[in-house]
Amino acid sequence: MCGIVGYVGFRNATDVLLDGLRRLEYRGYDSAGIAVRTPEGLKVVKRSGKLSSLAEAVGKTPLQGALGIGHTRWATHGAPTDPNAHPHTTEDGRIALIHNGIFENYLELKEALQARGHRFRSETDTEVLAHLLEETYRGDLLEALREALKAVRGAYAVVVAHEDHEEIVAARTVSPLVVGLGEGENFLASDVPALLPYTRRVIFLHDGDVVRLTREGVEITDLEGRPVQREAVEVDWTLEAAEKGGFPHYMLKEIYEQPWVLENTLGGRLREEEGTVELGLALDPREVDRVHVIACGTAGYAGLYGKYLLETLARLPTEWDVASEYRYRDPVVDSRTLALAISQSGETIDTLEGLREAKRKGARSLGVINAKGSTLTREVEDVLYIHAGPEIGVASTKAYTAMLAAMALLAVWFGRARGALAPEEAQRLLREMRRLPRLVEEVLEKRPLVAHVAEKYHQAQDFLFLGRHVQAPTAYEGALKLKEISYIHAEAYPAGEMKHGPIALIDEHLPVVVLATKGPLYEKTLSNIQEVRARGGKVIAIATEGDEEIPRLAQDVIYVPEVHPLLAPIVSVVPLQLLAYEIAVLLGRDVDQPRNLAKSVTVE
Ligand code: M6R
Repeated sequence: MCGIVGYVGFRNATDVLLDGLRRLEYRGYDSAGIAVRTPEGLKVVKRSGKLSSLAEAVGKTPLQGALGIGHTRWATHGAPTDPNAHPHTTEDGRIALIHNGIFENYLELKEALQARGHRFRSETDTEVLAHLLEETYRGDLLEALREALKAVRGAYAVVVAHEDHEEIVAARTVSPLVVGLGEGENFLASDVPALLPYTRRVIFLHDGDVVRLTREGVEITDLEGRPVQREAVEVDWTLEAAEKGGFPHYMLKEIYEQPWVLENTLGGRLREEEGTVELGLALDPREVDRVHVIACGTAGYAGLYGKYLLETLARLPTEWDVASEYRYRDPVVDSRTLALAISQSGETIDTLEGLREAKRKGARSLGVINAKGSTLTREVEDVLYIHAGPEIGVASTKAYTAMLAAMALLAVWFGRARGALAPEEAQRLLREMRRLPRLVEEVLEKRPLVAHVAEKYHQAQDFLFLGRHVQAPTAYEGALKLKEISYIHAEAYPAGEMKHGPIALIDEHLPVVVLATKGPLYEKTLSNIQEVRARGGKVIAIATEGDEEIPRLAQDVIYVPEVHPLLAPIVSVVPLQLLAYEIAVLLGRDVDQPRNLAKSVTVE
């Protein structure tokens, strides 16, 4: 994901910026750039590729100055080229800015700015802010930023410098931003590791904070200009702890990243007013008659959710297989079959071989992928990136929710193109999708309750997970998370299938996690809960906020916010991730690197 560093003080800004960006390299990026306030004005150097290319370019023309901003970019809007790299500047080059996140309404803003005579030099969403600043700047940079931000919608951490001012100004909403406090110098960064060599006194900015940094001090206001007090804290993190954002494990950090990951996956792609999505795919949806989902593990369950959505919303026949089966079952494929390969790493050999098999038989192909530049990205015709950022915990969490969101986008895209999804229903779904980052944030607040449930059941030998329709994949994923990191045996079934066998397992020692959110099959799920209770099983229900029936039937209830039933898996899987995490911690397991598992499985 993108990295941000800002500096104002007495040191050589170039050194501080390059050093800070290096410390953020672990986040992943594909281009980098800096802007430094020199005696000759603001100078920008930016390069696609690794920081070494930027450092080499800067080495050739050193920039003298003690104020600057630096950025590593993980491409979302526009390829990783030099012009798309940050910083972006106003047309006169006097203001430079860097940005993490996505301006969702950038297309309409860009068109309006172009109509007013602005000329764009990149394909990024970020550049609109530079042009807006050109219009709003009247001598006060902070005021100009506040006014410009009123026009944009979306997630952002932005940092701005002007050649006439010995200050940097910044703001955040959703994307993180931290102030580092020094003596005669101050810093900004997207993550603490960039600050550690210089200071451990930091202020974590909140949503809606706008900040002015000078050598002498830091002034924080809200978007209306009202002063805001934020506490400075002393971080005692090691570099490794800082890379985990202060969380004890990468997995937990990644679970907590899900709100802004969803913002990244969905943000710029939803067009609620028109009831459509903008995926930028070259593939023509009308050339596809059926889909074959090819994926493994967690990505496989995301694909199974995709099958439900593609069939429900787009009436597009969809087959689903784990990739290791798909490639050997001699699937029936023709030129109107779309092989949909889903993968976090883009390197999973079973998925790659499954895709190759489908292509050999004449299929078209599309990848839903996280890792840019991975083998899979090169072998599919087209890619829908999920933009989850690097996932380090072996147990996949944020990539899963991002894949689910990508599946929902694809289903709406196909549904609209095939005339199977009415514009009004698409609008309703897209409005609900827009709420998802906030809803997941609400679910994360349930962690103490989940920890309590974990405490109660962590000695169990087995768990059963049940769910119906779109919540069946959630049950599979919940069971997979638990077994992967706690080593407790866990099985998952579609709830209606329980009576055909697994019911024999139920006794007072078996915790049964039931996905019982509101939807067309809610009543049937309640009956399944009754069946478990009648046999003494312990029910942990994941239910919709406000459901008063459930506490009468389940021993433990974890509520999730109400959302369109087809999107409920995206909020419901979060407590299951937390449950697996809390149980694994209680059992003293190696959460980030569980035994026998690898992050990327490149052997058959
Ligand atoms: O990188 P991929 O998404 O292709 O990986 C697929 C599976 O190997 C992966 O999801 C695996 O199941 C994880 N350990 C799940 O937590």
